[in-house]
Amino acid sequence: METVLSGIRPTGNLHLGNYFGALRNFVKMQHEHNCYFFIADYHSLTTNPAPVDLHGNVRQVLIEYLAAGLDPNICTLYIQSNLPEVAELYLLFNMNAYLGELERTTSFKEKLRSQPDNVNAGLLTYPVLMAADILIHKANKVPVGKDQEPHLEMTRNFAKRFNRIYKVNYFPEPVAYNFGDDLIKIPGLDGTGKMGKSEGNGIFLVDDPETIRKKVMHAVTDSGPTIMNQEKPEPIKNLFTIMQAVSKPDTIAYFEEKYNKCEIRYGEMKKQLAEDIISFCSPFRGKILELQKQDKYLHEVVGTGTEKAKASALKTIKEVREIIGFKRF
Ligand code: TYM
Repeated sequence: METVLSGIRPTGNLHLGNYFGALRNFVKMQHEHNCYFFIADYHSLTTNPAPVDLHGNVRQVLIEYLAAGLDPNICTLYIQSNLPEVAELYLLFNMNAYLGELERTTSFKEKLRSQPDNVNAGLLTYPVLMAADILIHKANKVPVGKDQEPHLEMTRNFAKRFNRIYKVNYFPEPVAYNFGDDLIKIPGLDGTGKMGKSEGNGIFLVDDPETIRKKVMHAVTDSGPTIMNQEKPEPIKNLFTIMQAVSKPDTIAYFEEKYNKCEIRYGEMKKQLAEDIISFCSPFRGKILELQKQDKYLHEVVGTGTEKAKASALKTIKEVREIIGFKRF
C-alpha cells in the first residue's frame, strides 16, 4: 500500500479546478491507499490573511472536503498548523535549499509579478514547506493539478539531497499524480489561464444555480468559426475543456460537431454547460449547507485526524533528528 498526501490552501471556496485537479483524486484514492489530506493554512499566510478570515476559510475547506466525500474514518484529515513538526522539517530542509533554485520556481516568479509589494521569504521558500508537508509522512504519491508539478520536482530534489548529504536511503521521491491520466488544468471562464480562487474566473462547488448560470453566460467567446474543422482559439477551447469535465459524451460530441461545421451557437452551448455544471455542483452544495450546521462533528473530525497525523509526523521528526546528529544530553 502506498502513502498518498495532498493539501489545499484555505483561501476561499473550492472551485471546479480544485475538484478535478485534486479533490476528485483524494476521494478515489482514500479507498486504496494510506492517505493524508490536509488544509494548508501555513501556506495561506503568504498573503497575510486577517485572523477572522483564516479560521472561516479553514472551516470551509474542511466542510468542502467532507462534502466531496472524504471519509475521516478511512483517510487522515488534518490541519497543517496542528502539526508543528512540519515547521521543524521545513526549517531543516531550508538549510539545503538554494536561493537560485527557489528564485527560479515558476510560482515564485508569478508572485513577483502579482504581489510585488509583498515578496516575503514565505513565498520564496513555499516549495520547501510543501516538501516538508509531503515528506513528513514519507508520501510517494501526491494528487495535484498541473500547476503543482514543478513543486513536486523540487520535493524530489530536496529528498534526494537529504539522502545524499546524510548517506541514507530515508526519504522517498514522491510523484505528482492524477488517477490514471495526465495532470489536469481546468481553465477559467475569462478566456485565458487557469481557474483560480482569486482570479474571479471560477465556479465554486457551493455556487447556487443562478450564480452558475450568470457566470457561464458571461464567459468569454468570439464571433464563431468561419472555416470547417478550424482550430479552437483559447477561450473556446476552455469552454470545451470545462464541458469535458462535467457533461455527457454525446453532449460534447454534439457541440464539437456543431463547431466543426461552423454551426455552433455559443448561447446554446453555454446554456447546456451551465445546466450540466448545476447538476454536477448541486449535490455538493446540499451537503456543504448541511455540514455548516454540524460544529460538533467537525470538531471530532479534526481531533481524530490530528491525532493520527501527529503520530506519523513525530516518528519522522524523531528519525530525522537522529540522522542529522541531534543527540540528547
Ligand atoms: P491550491 O490551494 O492552489 O490548489 C489546491 C489543488 O487544486 C489544484 N488546482 C487546479 N487543478 C486543475 N486546474 C485548476 N485550475 C486548478 N486550480 C487549483 C492544485 O493543483 C492543487 O492540487 N501548494 C498547494 C497546496 C499544498 C500542497 C502541499 C499540495 C501545500 N502543501 C503538499 C500537495 C502537497 C496549493 O497551493 O494548492
